[in-house]
Amino acid sequence: MLVLGIDTSCDDTAIAVVEDGRLIHSNVIASQTDLLKEYGGVYPEMACRRHIEMIEPVLEEALGKFSLEQIDLIAAAKGPGLIGALLIGLNFAKGLALATHKPFVGVNHIEAHLYSAMMDQPPPLPALGVVISGGHTSLVLIKDVGDYELIGQTQDDAIGEAFDKVARLLNLDYPGGPAVEMLAKQGNPAAYPFKGGTVKERPLDLSFSGLKTAVLYATQKKSYSAADIAASFQKAAFDSLIEKVFLASQKYSIQSIVLGGGVSSSLTLRQSMQDRFDVPLFWPQKDLCLDNGAMIAGLGYHNYRRYGADPLDLNATARIPFDAKISPPSSAAVCQLHL
Ligand code: KG4
Ligand code: ZN
Repeated sequence: MLVLGIDTSCDDTAIAVVEDGRLIHSNVIASQTDLLKEYGGVYPEMACRRHIEMIEPVLEEALGKFSLEQIDLIAAAKGPGLIGALLIGLNFAKGLALATHKPFVGVNHIEAHLYSAMMDQPPPLPALGVVISGGHTSLVLIKDVGDYELIGQTQDDAIGEAFDKVARLLNLDYPGGPAVEMLAKQGNPAAYPFKGGTVKERPLDLSFSGLKTAVLYATQKKSYSAADIAASFQKAAFDSLIEKVFLASQKYSIQSIVLGGGVSSSLTLRQSMQDRFDVPLFWPQKDLCLDNGAMIAGLGYHNYRRYGADPLDLNATARIPFDAKISPPSSAAVCQLHL
């Protein structure tokens, strides 16, 4: 089954063709790096305009040798994300489905990030899903087929967003994560006593706004080392994340850890996680860490096999509760996918 997957949940216009949930024929991503560099972040209105300009050429390139008639299913991210941006990809997908008489499914973008790490092989269960992106930071317990729950999340900034904001304070380019990681290599991670936040009575929740403010104060000093700040911030952010993942892994006796989202491309994080955990870790391949259409096509295939098509009046949703009971059927547990 050939599936077209479309993601316009934030600033990337991404379309892919994936066969049977795992064989990636194409995975085209048009990034708005020029706009992001100029403005230091995502401006929803401009992101939407660019999606409208790019979506057709990206589709052409993603289809490559295939024609639309050969596509069996059209999948698009329905949320969470920027509502205006989501609507462009979702409506484009519906239009294609209507014009070609193909079925359509909406896909949860967060689940799709986790699916990126499981495309090649299924993880031993129960697994702990760790979504770490520019817009989301969530710990998800994958218990069994169709049975998962959100067990922790950030109370303020997403971890990638914290990297982007700190990069801006240090006059580094957007996206901040890779720039901070690079600069941190020359710095001393023990130079500043930064710490990630804790949330009262919610030990598995995260908080990065205090850490970000500590960095702001450090940059307001007369003299400071940007490399030391980058290294100390990165260590504090990852130490905090790893501590929560450790607590969750103890509490729920998990058998594996599945990571997804842009921050999972950090080699520093990968190394630190490998040093800390004995259970197998599942990382997405490099080009599936960031927003991409392949994860939407892949998860869309499984959603369709399990639940059938979605109606064409399916709406985009900026926030989707990560709970199968609240939003069936397309919030299908990621662990169902290989079974
Ligand atoms: O998954 P993604 O494309 O965004 C959302 O869906 O929200 O991830 C983008 C985020 C950006 O915030 C970027 O700074 C971060 O991933 N990122 C990193 C690294 N590479 C990308 N953060 C830390 N270290 C990295 N090496
Ligand atoms: Zn994302």
